[in-house]
Amino acid sequence: MPSLKLSNKVSSTVLRETWSTKRIFILAAVGSAVGLGNLWKFPYITGENGGGAFVLVYLGCVLLLGLPILMSEITLGRAGQGNPVHTMQVLAKRQGASRLWSLLGVNGLLAGALILSFYTVIAGWGVAYFFDSAQGVFQTMSAQQASEHLTVLLANPLQLLWWHTVVTVLTVWIVARGVRKGLEVALNFMMPALLLILLVLLGYAMTTTGFEQSVQFMFAADFSKLSWQAVLVAMGHAFFTLSIGLGTMMVYGSYFERQHSIASASLWVAVVDTLVALLAGVVIFSIVFANGLATGSGPGLLFSTLPIAFGQMSGGWFFGTLFFALVVFAALTSAISLLEPSVSWLNQRFGIGRIKAACGLGFATWLLGVGTVLSFNMWQNVHFMGTRTLFESLDFMTTNIMLPLGGMFMAVFVAWVFKDQDRAQEMALPKRFSAVFLLNLKWFVPVAILWIFASNLVTGQAVWWVMIGALALYGLYVKSVLQTTRPG
Ligand code: PFF
Repeated sequence: MPSLKLSNKVSSTVLRETWSTKRIFILAAVGSAVGLGNLWKFPYITGENGGGAFVLVYLGCVLLLGLPILMSEITLGRAGQGNPVHTMQVLAKRQGASRLWSLLGVNGLLAGALILSFYTVIAGWGVAYFFDSAQGVFQTMSAQQASEHLTVLLANPLQLLWWHTVVTVLTVWIVARGVRKGLEVALNFMMPALLLILLVLLGYAMTTTGFEQSVQFMFAADFSKLSWQAVLVAMGHAFFTLSIGLGTMMVYGSYFERQHSIASASLWVAVVDTLVALLAGVVIFSIVFANGLATGSGPGLLFSTLPIAFGQMSGGWFFGTLFFALVVFAALTSAISLLEPSVSWLNQRFGIGRIKAACGLGFATWLLGVGTVLSFNMWQNVHFMGTRTLFESLDFMTTNIMLPLGGMFMAVFVAWVFKDQDRAQEMALPKRFSAVFLLNLKWFVPVAILWIFASNLVTGQAVWWVMIGALALYGLYVKSVLQTTRPG
């Protein structure tokens, strides 16, 4: 944990409180960041996109785009003190910028609701597996039985709907009650437990014949396997996994006390988050290679591999049940952070009570989630956005477009719109680091994100022209911002 700044406060109560606030912030932020994105999504998109090179691009995106944007988002939240729309309105006004900046908040609320609609469906698979494991269903399960088990679940819309409903109700209930305290205490145990059980699984993975190949697959980069589409997926996932670009970290940042370092808290979130994802990846691919399974088997990967491990290892019943309980818990702490920004917006903007707001929004995302449930069975062949199912379209639109766009504009706001002294005061970065940070935020972050978008839209030569056009537009925009915000 980051060190407690002693400063010159001598009262032990103040000290304890200060410590506890920073710890709680990091816990809540890690609780939001670590979820299905790490355990379920990262391994399967790594498998679909060829492994090593994809992982490397993903790690680069976390470090060069994710971390600075996470810091920016927390900064905005701490400076604006409210829901994402309100925060952007207040800050734009304070910095003399356009009111249109509040659209950034609206993009976030919308993205949060859309993500939640499919997130609860997948978390529902976790609940189903928790009960299966507790009943000993996975004992001595073969690879083929594990794959069939998942196929049977996915083919049953009513069962999926039931578990989706259970998770939605739980999420709404927690958000409506505002039961932060209990969650914080639970998070204290959950995170170490999750890391521990992943280490147990790593121990098991090391005994399998697939371990070496798994490490090779995850960390040996072969760039010939990498497409621009894969780069976009890696970038989008960096945003998804860190919970940035939609305002969650803004809301959490508004509770973060001024004397604490945004940089060190963000670093903690990014490190723990990345560690969990990499561990999950190595474990899952060891099982994949040991059993001759396909790496690119898609969203079912976690659920069709781990039961094999729990069926084979000693204590598998115990570890399996605990693991799926932790998956569900990790998913819940992320799901509530997806709902929270919209609830606090409805509450602040229209005076709608927490319970009503959470129930209303929960119903809307539940309804949309029915579409995701059907994507795995009855609507398997119903396509949107090219050849994507409804679930894939929602995931693509939010993760790969809305979050990076939202994050980019947050970076632009902090880098270009914030007055230097406000930014410096709010972020309190060491001088030398501050210059590099700002340079990265001003130029690398927006240019890289636009570049990746453009490369996906066009291929070949045209990408250069699109980039030059986008850069020129960006330059004009920056110029106009500087003129409106810094007269004289
Ligand atoms: N970071 C979460 C995960 O990896 O599962 C998902 C998520 C939560 C995304 C909250 C965005 C967000 F605002």
